[in-house]
Amino acid sequence: MKDSTPDNRNRRFRLWVKTSLILVYCVILAGALVRMTGSGMGCPDWPKCFGYYIPPTDVEQLTWRPGKTFEEGQVIIKDQALWVASRDIKSTQQYVASDWRAYTRHDYAIFNPVHTWIEYLNRLCGALAGIAVFVMAVLSLRDARRKPSITVLSWLSVFLMGFQAWLGATVVYSVLNPVKITTHMIVALLIVAILIYIRHLASAEKKQKITDGKLKWLAWLTLTLGMIQLVAGTQLRQYVDERVRLFGDHEMDQVLIDPGFSFYFHRSFSIAVLLASFFLYRRSRQINMGTNSARTVLVLLVLEAATGIAMAYLDFPFGTQAAHLAIATILFGYLFQLLLQTGKRQL
Ligand code: HEM
Repeated sequence: MKDSTPDNRNRRFRLWVKTSLILVYCVILAGALVRMTGSGMGCPDWPKCFGYYIPPTDVEQLTWRPGKTFEEGQVIIKDQALWVASRDIKSTQQYVASDWRAYTRHDYAIFNPVHTWIEYLNRLCGALAGIAVFVMAVLSLRDARRKPSITVLSWLSVFLMGFQAWLGATVVYSVLNPVKITTHMIVALLIVAILIYIRHLASAEKKQKITDGKLKWLAWLTLTLGMIQLVAGTQLRQYVDERVRLFGDHEMDQVLIDPGFSFYFHRSFSIAVLLASFFLYRRSRQINMGTNSARTVLVLLVLEAATGIAMAYLDFPFGTQAAHLAIATILFGYLFQLLLQTGKRQL
């Protein structure tokens, strides 16, 4: 059958790897949007949102009124607290306290429809990405004997997607604990790296690597320095989050006054990353690498530095935090891909 030739199977598998990668990036970008708009608590529960699969659009839906029906698990806001219906209810003239149990995971009880729907979009992207990764893993079974590493890595991604979903829930329950946000981001990057690697393995038979010791060394150096910078960035973000909690998000000019080590390290270390990337770019030109990856990495790094400088010295203009995060993750993907393109010749 035409459909089941190894070539066709491989093509279809690679399509699903690509789809998964794009959707995982959508989740990361939607996550950046959540951060930019402060929508992290848009849904106070997980995986449902105020107890609904499709979240409310109006506070009216979350308000107790006589003669209204509520299904078990649905949430209302009363006396600035969340209450969960303990069974299916048709409310009478009087509010019956025993019909409701207090929501105890946290005490954040604000409904903002825009925040709710942005957070919901983030979860929807997550669900779609989860489905795509699962389909990819199922398809990988068909060539499991010939390419066991691809199958193992595909199922590892399924596991990590599940883990990431669970971690997302703990982020909400902890009311956006900064350390949990950082772990969430690092796992997202791990998933990106595995998907890029699977894509590379699935197309490795066709591609010839660029053999240049110096290029490979510079790619390693840039990736290593980039990773250090990324981790330093997450530490700085934790610091910024704590300061924002202290001053409120209307006083962004106060956040980086006398900022301490995490800021100065992150700021100055950019120079090392930029230099490594510049030499990588120069080498790629010298040997006529044939792809634009090194140039893209350099351009992304310059943009990253520009958004960083804007945050630090122009008091966090709108969108710069999200852009800084989004560029960092795209940059990481390009760097990892570039590293895989370099190496010993395989004929
Ligand atoms: C050039 C390479 C750079 C890389 C790869 C990088 C990467 C990152 C990353 C990954 C984060 C964490 C984002 C998050 O978790 O939301 C971050 C945060 C941050 N970076 Fe950078 N950064 C770079 C340069 C700079 C520069 C030059 C500055 C300023 C002078 C800067 C200022 C900041 C600030 C203020 C934060 C905290 C952002 C927030 O609270 O959302 N960065 N960076």
